[in-house]
Amino acid sequence: MLKIGLIIGSTRPNRFADIPARWIAEGARQRTDLALTVLDLREQHLPLFDEPVPPARANGTYSRPEAETWRHKIGALDGFIATVAEYNHGPTAVLKNAFDSAFHEWKRKPVAFIGYGGVGGARAIEQLRGVAIELQMAPIKHEVNITMEPFLGIVQHGKALDDYPHLVRAREALLEDLAWWGSALKAARDGQQSAVAA
Ligand SMILES: Cc1cc2nc3c(=O)[nH]c(=O)nc-3n(C[C@H](O)[C@H](O)[C@H](O)COP(=O)(O)O)c2cc1C
Repeated sequence: MLKIGLIIGSTRPNRFADIPARWIAEGARQRTDLALTVLDLREQHLPLFDEPVPPARANGTYSRPEAETWRHKIGALDGFIATVAEYNHGPTAVLKNAFDSAFHEWKRKPVAFIGYGGVGGARAIEQLRGVAIELQMAPIKHEVNITMEPFLGIVQHGKALDDYPHLVRAREALLEDLAWWGSALKAARDGQQSAVAA
């Protein structure tokens, strides 16, 4: 069973983020190979990054206890899904800060994105793909983009994400891809560890 962290990437009151978070978790529950842990950034209380020494030069440690707790949570997981709101054509500051608040713990693990907004969060997701690469993660190709029509359908007309077959298909592809990369990279990480131990 792969341990997947579902990062809820927006913290404002009345956020839309809860809707895609619940829906992607429901999709994961229908599978037998993914165990989801919700990492709601509202509850992590991460300080805005202000470390005196960059994590790359501090052996990946943080001076702030909340960041230390966060990085250990990240370290215990095999892969991630992040809900992505688009704020001014980029990711939310809290989500970028969450990526900056761990270092080695992200390495060689997959991350998948479920975005929403005018263009389904695509512009913010593209930026996050670059962030993930720098952290030596594997951002997976398949993503869910909840664009304007379904976004407004849900917010204004009481529709549900399940009412959009193309989104249901995208969710399946995302989870399948995440499971594949998650297993492949976990096997490789585990193999590397046993090679070091031998
Ligand atoms: C500060 C701010 C900037 C925004 N900028 C964009 C944007 O660039 N593109 C977009 O599609 N939506 C934008 N929106 C609208 C958001 O997509 C919409 O408010 C969404 O509900 C935000 O996610 P959240 O509710 O989970 O925080 C913006 C919203 C806020 C609050």
